[in-house]
Amino acid sequence: MRWVIGNWKQNKLRFEARELAEAVAQGRASAVGAAEDRVRVGIAPTFLCLDLAVPFAPPGDALWLFAQNVGAQDFGAFTGEIGPTMLLDAGVNGAIIGHSERREHFWETDEDIERKLRCALAAGLQVVLCIGEPLEIREAEQHETFVISQLSTAFFNIPPEHITERLVLAYEPIWAIGTGKTATPAEASAMHHAIRTWMGETFGANGRDRSILYGGSVKPANAAALLAAPDIDGFLVGGASLDAASFLDIVRTAAGG
Ligand code: PGA
Repeated sequence: MRWVIGNWKQNKLRFEARELAEAVAQGRASAVGAAEDRVRVGIAPTFLCLDLAVPFAPPGDALWLFAQNVGAQDFGAFTGEIGPTMLLDAGVNGAIIGHSERREHFWETDEDIERKLRCALAAGLQVVLCIGEPLEIREAEQHETFVISQLSTAFFNIPPEHITERLVLAYEPIWAIGTGKTATPAEASAMHHAIRTWMGETFGANGRDRSILYGGSVKPANAAALLAAPDIDGFLVGGASLDAASFLDIVRTAAGG
């Protein structure tokens, strides 16, 4: 399954978010065209704007709605947190977990991410789990070891029966996020292959078959070349998802048209 998911990050006031969600919802069907059963499109507005997008993401897979983060527990004395069951209750389909900005600016550790992943999958939330290495690790040619170690911690306690379609992975090299510097198709593809191999060795066919998205300065101009490389199943898009036309262009490319 191909996915194109727009991560809006900390952008858009409510009226802007409503307009963007509506424009994406309206343009989605024609951008996806005949690839309706092969391409899923998602948006991830801020928590405060999720409710505005719910009417544009009715049940039935047309547009998927994601939170950018989720708590590591469903309920309780955890001031400021929002749990997976609360998201589902609000009409949200899923959550991004472990984005590098959460790791870097909010000190989320691999262990925090493991707890979030476990709780979200157990609650039945769709999950996009992000992994990716910083520049110095890439330069030291330790990137595969680094990403596989992120995966081994994240999946340490996940029951194999929770490795289903509900889980999507996103490889986002930190040096490519918001920098205009994209991994080459060959670099991204090699890492995706390593991730798929590890998932297959760890969880068998269910692990191997998961969609692995690429993220980091994806634009309409570089989407086709990345998608042509083996093991790249779509995109997590930041900057280019803030404009409906450029986001839908990327969706059109993912749909093959
Ligand atoms: P970018 O962000 O497309 O702006 O590089 C990607 C992401 O952080 O998900």
